[in-house]
Amino acid sequence: MSPTQAPHRQVEVDLGGDRAYTVHIGPGVRELLPEMVARLGARRAAVVSARPASSVPDPGVPTLWLDARDGEQDKTLDTVGELCGEFARFGLTRSDVVISCGGGTTTDTVGLAASLFHRGVPVVHLPTSLLAQVDASIGGKTGVNLPEGKNLVGAYWQPRAVLCDTDFLSTLPDAERVNGYGELARCHFIGAGDLRGLPLHEQIAASVSLKASIVTADERDTGLRHILNYGHTLGHALELATDFALRHGEAVAIGTVFAGRLAGALGRIDGERVAEHLEVVESYGLPTGVPAALDPLDLIRYMRRDKKASRGLAFVLDGPRGVELVQDVPEAVVAGCLEAMPRPTS
Ligand code: GLY
Repeated sequence: MSPTQAPHRQVEVDLGGDRAYTVHIGPGVRELLPEMVARLGARRAAVVSARPASSVPDPGVPTLWLDARDGEQDKTLDTVGELCGEFARFGLTRSDVVISCGGGTTTDTVGLAASLFHRGVPVVHLPTSLLAQVDASIGGKTGVNLPEGKNLVGAYWQPRAVLCDTDFLSTLPDAERVNGYGELARCHFIGAGDLRGLPLHEQIAASVSLKASIVTADERDTGLRHILNYGHTLGHALELATDFALRHGEAVAIGTVFAGRLAGALGRIDGERVAEHLEVVESYGLPTGVPAALDPLDLIRYMRRDKKASRGLAFVLDGPRGVELVQDVPEAVVAGCLEAMPRPTS
C-alpha cells in the first residue's frame, strides 16, 4: 500500500487560502513528496538534507541535492547565504520548491533560506527528529543564531506541506527521542491533556493539532502563541547556562517542573496540580532538577532577557483562567523556587 492509500494522520494548519497546508503524520509519508511537488507546479527542486540523500524520495523534477548538518553550529547566516548561492547557481525560481530534511535546526535554517531567496520560495519540510515533528517544523517560525544569541534573525515563512515520516524516528538515538518528549510533556499542560497512553504517532498528531489551532489563531506570536513557550523561560536559560549541553527538550522539561512550582508559589494552582508537573515530566524519562553547578543568579539574569518579557521576569503559567503569560513575577519568588528545585550533581 502506498502512503497515499495507507492510513496516516493529517492535520490542517488552516491559515486561509493558499497559505493553508497539511501536516501528514505516519510511517512512509515521505513518499508523498513527488505528489506535493507536482501539486505545487514546481519545475525544479532543491533538497537540503541532514540525512543521506537516499532518505529523501526523488521529487520527480530536476533536483539540486545539498548536504546539511543538524546542530546549532551551522544554524547561521553564513549557512543561509551559502544555500541561497547554491539555489542561484542552480537557477531555482520562485515558482520552484525547496525541501528540507533533518532536525529542527535544519528545518529552521533551510526555512529561512527559502523565505529570503527571491523574497520567498515554497518550502516543504521532512522533519526527522521527534522534536522537529512535534513542534519545530510546524507553524512557520524560521531562524538562525547570531554570536549574540539564539534565533535572533528569522522570519515567519509557512511551509506548503510537512511530512512527518515516523519511520525516521526508528533510528533515533534514545537521548534524541527523550529530547522530543520534552515538548510532548509540555503539551500536557497547555491543552493537549494526557497523551501518555497513546502510540507515538498519535502523540505527535495531538501535539501538531494543538499547535495548528494555536498558530491559526495567533500566527505572529502576539498573544495566544506564547503558551507554546510553557516551561521555556527557565528552559532557554538552562540551555544558555550549560552552553547547550542540556538539550532543548530536556531544558524545557526542567522548566515545566519549575513552571508548576512557580504557579503553586504564586497561589495560581493547588499542590496536586504542582505535583502533576513532576509526575508527567518524570514519566517521560526526562530530567526534573536544575544542575547543581548552575548559579541561580545567572539563571535569573538569562531569564530577564527572555523575549516574552516586557516587564521584569515573565513566565507562561497555569492558573484559574488556564495557561497565560504572566509578566513581572517577583524575583524573590522566582529565586525561592529555584533554590527549592532538586539540584542533581550529574
Ligand atoms: N516553538 C514555539 C512556536 O512555534 O511558537
